[in-house]
Amino acid sequence: MNEAISRKVYLNDYKPFGWEVEQVSLTFRLSPRGTRVLSRIAFRPREGGRFFLHGEGLRLISAAIDGRTVTPEVTDEGLTCEVPDRPFLWEAEVEIAPEDNTALEGLYMSNGMFCTQCEAEGFRRITFYPDRPDVMAPFRVRIESDLPVLLSNGDPVASGKGWAEWHDPWPKPAYLFALVAGDLRAVRDSFTTRSGREIDLAVWVREGDEDRCGWALESLKASMAWDEREYGREYDLSVFNIVAVDDFNAGAMENKGLNIFNSALVLASPETATDRDFERIEAVIAHEYFHNWTGNRVTCRDWFQLCLKEGLTVYRDQQFTGDMRSAPVKRIEDAAMIRSRQFREDNGPLAHPVRPEEFIEINNFYTITVYEKGAEVVGMLHRLVGQNAWRAACDLYFERHDGQAVTIEDWLAAFRDTTGRNLTQFMRWYSQAGTPRLSVAEDWDGQTLTLTLRQHTPPTPGQQEKAPQLIPVALGLLHPSGPEILRTQIVEMTEPEEVVRYDVGALCKAAGLKTERPVVSALRNFSAPVMLEHDQSPKERAFLLRHDTDPVNRWEAGRALSRAALTAMATGGDADPQAWLEGLEAALTDETLDPAMQSLLLSLPSEDDLAQSLADAGEAPDPLAIRHAVEAMQDHMAETLEPVLTRAFEATAGTGPFRPDAAGAGRRSLHNACLTLLTRRDEGTRARETFARADNMTASLGALNALLSVGAGKDELAAFEARWQHDRLVMDKWFALQVMRASPEQATEVAERLTQHPQFAWKTPNRFRSVIGTLAGNAAGFHHPSGAAYDFFADWLLKLDPVNPQTAARMSTAFETWRRYGPERQARLRATLERIAASPGLSRDTGEMVARMLG
Ligand code: PHE
Ligand code: ZN
Repeated sequence: MNEAISRKVYLNDYKPFGWEVEQVSLTFRLSPRGTRVLSRIAFRPREGGRFFLHGEGLRLISAAIDGRTVTPEVTDEGLTCEVPDRPFLWEAEVEIAPEDNTALEGLYMSNGMFCTQCEAEGFRRITFYPDRPDVMAPFRVRIESDLPVLLSNGDPVASGKGWAEWHDPWPKPAYLFALVAGDLRAVRDSFTTRSGREIDLAVWVREGDEDRCGWALESLKASMAWDEREYGREYDLSVFNIVAVDDFNAGAMENKGLNIFNSALVLASPETATDRDFERIEAVIAHEYFHNWTGNRVTCRDWFQLCLKEGLTVYRDQQFTGDMRSAPVKRIEDAAMIRSRQFREDNGPLAHPVRPEEFIEINNFYTITVYEKGAEVVGMLHRLVGQNAWRAACDLYFERHDGQAVTIEDWLAAFRDTTGRNLTQFMRWYSQAGTPRLSVAEDWDGQTLTLTLRQHTPPTPGQQEKAPQLIPVALGLLHPSGPEILRTQIVEMTEPEEVVRYDVGALCKAAGLKTERPVVSALRNFSAPVMLEHDQSPKERAFLLRHDTDPVNRWEAGRALSRAALTAMATGGDADPQAWLEGLEAALTDETLDPAMQSLLLSLPSEDDLAQSLADAGEAPDPLAIRHAVEAMQDHMAETLEPVLTRAFEATAGTGPFRPDAAGAGRRSLHNACLTLLTRRDEGTRARETFARADNMTASLGALNALLSVGAGKDELAAFEARWQHDRLVMDKWFALQVMRASPEQATEVAERLTQHPQFAWKTPNRFRSVIGTLAGNAAGFHHPSGAAYDFFADWLLKLDPVNPQTAARMSTAFETWRRYGPERQARLRATLERIAASPGLSRDTGEMVARMLG
């Protein structure tokens, strides 16, 4: 990496901008190769200093201050200029070429449409500006173009043939700026706020996609109503526009009044989208909408505070999904995600605090730690202070900071001032990286149960010493005959070691039961993002799987059993899946259990999770052995549970017309899970029938997945392609599924062949991810000892890097686990990373990632 581009930015270096921006007016004369951007910006001095405006890849045509031409000094990063010591008007004209913008940052083109992506630092590719989130201003925008639809932030002001004007009265940072121009169709609806204002809602799509917008609009209205009800937050403009874009680096973007979405996260119909897609769309629509208050009205002082908006907004969208669907199911899914993907990041070379203190490229910090661990931290705070104080503190935060760019300290101050609580120790959740280990040791004397809780956090890059965290540990006790004798209580652990005692004799007596050693259910509801080390026997786990009143721990007990059996199988040890299978059988025949929950219980830990478990236990995982163990376990499950699986499969068949609600989705999920296992016993008969009869994407993809996972499904794959070849979103699924289900020996070959498919448009991130990204998700294929996948993957990353550094850098995290493998794989992986690092012209984005991974 070149010195100049690898400069680090530090939280401690924060300095406010020396000028206030009072007003921004922009005029866009759109043209693919030469768009002209005219800016008029009113500055008012505060501290003053060196006047610097960011700007990248801009051709400066002219600049003037108060109408007098100036000649600023322009570098690769921006410009400096002498400015007067009083309020002044800055005017500049620049030229940019949206058509050549493959990085998809700034103003770019997708299928003939102009669109923008400015978070985090993309606005500087549009015009010269103080491109930092603490500079907030109202924007006026005029767009000149022959395209029929011209959109920007805020309220529409006026329009005519070939032009449109927009005004956004709410001061906002430049990263929330957006512009869209194209030949688009609107699907419209409206929402009346609780104060009686009517808002025009629209989803803008390509012609032909109009019949796939209904779900997004329903989700949007539900989100608007929910935020009013749960947080007292109302929408604040007369229109709310959503645009679907095919070429997009991320999921979606919360630009003020003009959200821009990856089309995969807006468009849905039962024929083309799965239940998962519907649920994700609902959640992402909500997420971006909720940003209107948590992110837009109150924004971040600097990018180190990213979790201020993201952690909080993810927490809010999780609450929303829990309310719209099943709260326990949502909680289990979130806990499972943290435990697999966030722990993987937190325990590897890319570990960083929820609020990082340094970075080279901010785009590399849109991570699962900032988002999902950030949300866990917010959730802990909520549970610690309770619902009433939570709501009061959020109200205070909005009231105090509306229109401001603030910090995590400001956020916590709202809680301190509401509750009087000292949150100094809690603050460590934001500053300390790594996953705390929480061990629970039990001592039983026949009457009293003594629990010794110990915590410690291993070192992470750049942070050797770790201080104890405030860990809320939710605990409950069950009598071995089944009933709960101690309802969930929270132990607020603050020290490295703490002892808690329970007078079990008294608890049993109160419940009218004989005094016996209870079964401990610890870390209920995943009350803190920690790794729990609690030695429990298979018998105790099977008991919890059957009797725990806490759904997360019920699921966790099952997970612990299957994980233990699978890791033993993968290392040639003694595997006893008996307890697991019995518990599973009981769960599948328990009619009080939600099918969605039964489906979750049926799922096995991912191969990557198993690799991590082995690494945690000090063993070098062999991904091939893990794959064999998983397959052997599936065979075993299919064989022993065949009658129950058959019954559940039949009971969940044919549920009437498709509705994307939680109940239907739960039934279909269980149906597919049973089908996958039964396909191992019936030569694919049921899956073929299901595929032939399927009238929705959840069913067809479920059947196709089942077939491919036993090495069948060739004809179905061809039929699927013939039917969907004109549908880019469905084709992404077709590409991905083949790579995901390829055998370890063939995975690279399959991916390679697919890159030669006429529809492999590698510059479109969704398609690139569906083939190349998915290969890293096929753990046994990716880590095949031939090393072919490493080479292939690295070659493609290097090809993508100059074109789209953001997406390339994001995908390089496929290598973050390299140190967990044995010497041969490690050597290969290191060599691959070194080859990438040494590649000439590597982007700052990917350069930073590989440097951190190599450590
Ligand atoms: N801020 C977007 C979100 O909510 C994510 C995003 C970041 C999108 C950067 C594009 C670029 O979650
Ligand atoms: Zn977000």
